[in-house]
Amino acid sequence: MKLWAGRFKGQLDSRTNDFNSSISFDSRMVKEDIAGSIAHASMLGAQGIISMEDKEKIVAGLTGILEDILSGRLSIDPQAEDVHTFVEGELTARVGDAGKRLHTARSRNDQVALDLRLYLRSETEELEALLCRLMGVLVEKAKAYSAAVMPGYTHLQRAQPITFGHHLLAYAQMFKRDLSRLSDCKRRMNVSPLGSGALAGTTYPLDREGCARALGMDGISHNSLDGVSDRDFALELASALSIVMVHLSRFAEEIILWCSWEFKFIELDDAFATGSSIMPQKKNPDIAELVRGKSGRVFGDLMTLLTMMKGLPLAYNKDMQEDKEAVFDAVDTVKLCVDTMIPMLETMKVLPDNMRAAAAKGFINATDCADYLVGKGLPFRDAYKAAGELVALCIDKGLTLETLPLEEYQTICGLFDTGVYDAISLSACVSRRTVDGGPAPQCVMKEAAALEAWLKQEKEEKA
Ligand code: ARG
Repeated sequence: MKLWAGRFKGQLDSRTNDFNSSISFDSRMVKEDIAGSIAHASMLGAQGIISMEDKEKIVAGLTGILEDILSGRLSIDPQAEDVHTFVEGELTARVGDAGKRLHTARSRNDQVALDLRLYLRSETEELEALLCRLMGVLVEKAKAYSAAVMPGYTHLQRAQPITFGHHLLAYAQMFKRDLSRLSDCKRRMNVSPLGSGALAGTTYPLDREGCARALGMDGISHNSLDGVSDRDFALELASALSIVMVHLSRFAEEIILWCSWEFKFIELDDAFATGSSIMPQKKNPDIAELVRGKSGRVFGDLMTLLTMMKGLPLAYNKDMQEDKEAVFDAVDTVKLCVDTMIPMLETMKVLPDNMRAAAAKGFINATDCADYLVGKGLPFRDAYKAAGELVALCIDKGLTLETLPLEEYQTICGLFDTGVYDAISLSACVSRRTVDGGPAPQCVMKEAAALEAWLKQEKEEKA
C-alpha cells in the first residue's frame, strides 16, 4: 500500500512500481533517515505539536528499527517505494497511531534533502580520513627519499634534477588542497532543509534551528523552495571528487611509467601487481591503471548530476531521485581508489640508484652550467648560449658535461675553470635549490615537517 494511496483508485503497474522505486539504492541512508525522524519527532514533541507520549513512542520505535536493521533482525523490504516509506511503514506497524503522526509538518521532499546531506556529510568525513592517511604515507616516503636525486621532467623530457621526496610532496600538496575543498563543501552541506515541507514551508510552529542543532548541523536553509530543490552540495562534492580523481589518476600514470623497464624507478609489491596469462615475464601495474581508468566514472557522475539539475523548474522534481546513484558512485569510487593506493604506496620498493642513473643522462645540469657562468659575471642569455653549445659539443663527442675536459669547456668560454665540475655535480645541483618549495633535501624535510604538523592538527580537530 502506497503512502499516497488515498487519491488513487487503481493499482500501480508493476513496471511503474519498479521504475519509480529508489529503495535499491536509497536504503543505504536508513541510519540518516531514522536520525532525521528522531530529531523531527523530538522537536514536534517539544513544540507541543504532538504529545510527549506520542513522541516517546516514535523515538523508541525508530530506535528499535535501527537496532533491528543493524543486527540483521529486520531486513529492508525491496518492494518499498523508498527508504522513507519503508521506515514510516515499519514504525506504524510497530507503534500504531503515534507512527502516523511522525510525518506532521514534513514532506519526503525536505526529508530526502536532509537525509542526503547527512549521509554525504559522514561519507565526506570518511574520505577526509582516507586522504589524510594517503598524505601521511607520502610524507613518510618523502622523508625517506628526501635526498634521492631523480630527473625532473617537462614534456616528459629530462629537464632539471630534483629529489624523489620533492616529487612525492607535490602530490601531498594536491591532496591537501582536496581536503580543503572537501571541508569547504561540507560547510554548505551541513545546513538543514527540514521545515521546507513539500515546497512552501508549513503552518506549524516548528523550531527549525533547534532541530538542525540536534542533528549536528550548522544552520537552516532560508528559502523553502531552495531548501527542497538545492543539490549544490552533491554537485560540489562530485566536483571536488573529480579533482581528487584527476590527482589520483596523474599519480597512477606516473607509477605506471616508473615501474616500466624504461624507467624502473620503483617496483610494486607482488600483492599490488598482476601477471599475464600468456607472457610469463610480466608484472603489470593493474591497480594504478584501474585508478586512472576509474577517474572517468567520477567525471561521468559529475556530468550526470549537472545535466540532471540544469533544466529543473522549482521546486522538487522526481528527476532529482537520480542524484543518489551518481553521487554514491563518485564517493564509493574515490574511497575505493584511495584505500587501495595507500597500501600500494606503502609497500612499493623505491630504486634510487636507477633514478640517479637516469638523472646522470640527458644533460639535466645544463641550466646549472649556465648559472655557473652567471656567477662569473656573464649575462644569463650569453651563459645560456654557451651551455647550449657545450651540450651540442658533448653530444658530438659522446660525452657528458661531467666528463668533458676543461680545455673543451674553455674553447667555448674562457670563464670556465675546474670549479665547474663541482657546480654541475648532480648532488650540488639539487642541494643548491634551496628556494622555498624547492627540491633540496633540507627543503623537502622542512615541507614534510610542515605537512606532518598540519596532519596532526587535522587529526586533533576531528577527534
Ligand atoms: N525517493 C525520492 C527521492 O529520492 C524521495 C522524494 C519523493 N518525493 C516525491 N514528491 N515523490 O527523491
